[in-house]
Amino acid sequence: MKERNSPRIWTTKTYNRISPYYDRFMKRFFPIGEIGRERIVETLTTGSVLDVACGTGTLLAMAHDKGLRCFGLDISGGMLAQAKRKVPDGHFLQASFYQMPYHEGQFDHVVATNALSGTFIDVKKVLEEMLRVCSSGGCVSIAEWPKALQGSFMDRLLVWFASLSEDAPKDYLGVFRTLEYEPEVEMLSKKFHIFRVQK
Ligand SMILES: C[S@@+](CC[C@H](N)C(=O)[O-])C[C@H]1O[C@@H](n2cnc3c(N)ncnc32)[C@H](O)[C@@H]1O
Repeated sequence: MKERNSPRIWTTKTYNRISPYYDRFMKRFFPIGEIGRERIVETLTTGSVLDVACGTGTLLAMAHDKGLRCFGLDISGGMLAQAKRKVPDGHFLQASFYQMPYHEGQFDHVVATNALSGTFIDVKKVLEEMLRVCSSGGCVSIAEWPKALQGSFMDRLLVWFASLSEDAPKDYLGVFRTLEYEPEVEMLSKKFHIFRVQK
């Protein structure tokens, strides 16, 4: 799917506007998203980490405390400004996750959390980019709300409602498989999973 201009501009403007309140909003309304970040940081060892769509840099601040070299990419300058405050010696770039301005195999860990579920996001293209910039033997991890297990009527209603917004769940397992990777899946809750592959 071609990245469309209007959703991209809308996304950038929206995140610029909400960036000062984003952390409070997440804590209050999406605590599982916070747990997802913490769980991913627990699995990071040494070396470098790139957080794709890093937002306000909460994950990178935790990784920095563990001694990792921190890199963050995001489309929103407002979100990046918050991230730079949390990790002053981090390396941040304002860019799209469809064309990351990094070399092949540059990072030991490439992660994305709470970032790929938007309706207009082409997950396959983003995962291809994440795998490209990950070193051989390195890890790509995402924490997202997957399409799987939409069992009950309430679940389906929620999914239908979400499909009207920027938060439509996606089939991450299927996308990894089309890229010929079989991810390890950790279910933090029925609707929030971590997918991890070693390159
Ligand atoms: C819900 S926030 C998640 C932020 C952070 N990863 C977290 O766990 O809180 C989604 C982020 O994706 C970024 N984003 C959306 N579209 C993007 C794109 N095309 N390229 C890079 N970042 C993008 C937004 O600016 C925003 O910071």
